Amino acid sequence: MSDSEIYYEQLKIESEKDFECIKSLISDDLSEPYSIYVYRFFLNQWPDLCYIAKTGNDNLIGVVISKLEPHRDVRLRGYIGMLAVQKQYRGRGIAKELVKKTINEMIEQGCDEVMLETEVVNIPAITLYENMGFIRSKRLYRYYLNQHDAFRLILPVTKKSQTRSAFLPPLQPKVI
Ligand SMILES: CC(C)(COP(=O)(O)OP(=O)(O)OC[C@H]1O[C@@H](n2cnc3c(N)ncnc32)[C@H](O)[C@@H]1OP(=O)(O)O)[C@@H](O)C(=O)NCCC(=O)NCCS
Repeated sequence: MSDSEIYYEQLKIESEKDFECIKSLISDDLSEPYSIYVYRFFLNQWPDLCYIAKTGNDNLIGVVISKLEPHRDVRLRGYIGMLAVQKQYRGRGIAKELVKKTINEMIEQGCDEVMLETEVVNIPAITLYENMGFIRSKRLYRYYLNQHDAFRLILPVTKKSQTRSAFLPPLQPKVI
């Protein structure tokens, strides 16, 4: 496979090399400094929702990190925590593919809606998500350390996402 070819895979949690590449890719790009505990919180519990993009020679050039948890005990809410693509590989559909993969896996696991926050000035991210069906649900004043406001975006997946939580029955405990 050549360097120009891109492939996608779920994170293999035991790969320390991939973990280090993910950290440096994200810290280069996102405005918030994340501690190792934040990465471990997401990756150790939901490695199946973390997708990476690599070039043919195994350079890690894109990542999406997500989680999936009950929200108010009535619906399952997916959350996209981090998304980044290395600068020279942007504009080729890599982020869109990573986001599709994590959302498809969330849907496979029964999610009712997907949520995320992004800076109001981050036009590439807002365009990407809105074109995929995400809706602006809130503006969060000075949400980020750099004092920028955020938009909270929601992608409704099931009817539960459009029903007030007070009118929904509690989630059934998962039978293992
Ligand atoms: C946001 C980011 C992940 C997009 O990655 P990407 O691989 O270039 O995105 P894609 O090529 O998959 O683009 C998908 C869609 O996003 C939108 N988009 C991407 N870049 C854009 C730009 N510069 N301006 C406007 N829209 C843009 C477009 O709708 C595009 O679809 P189209 O090409 O069919 O029009 C990338 O710019 C990045 O890593 N930024 C820094 C980190 C960041 O902001 N992460 C998001 C935090 S919420």
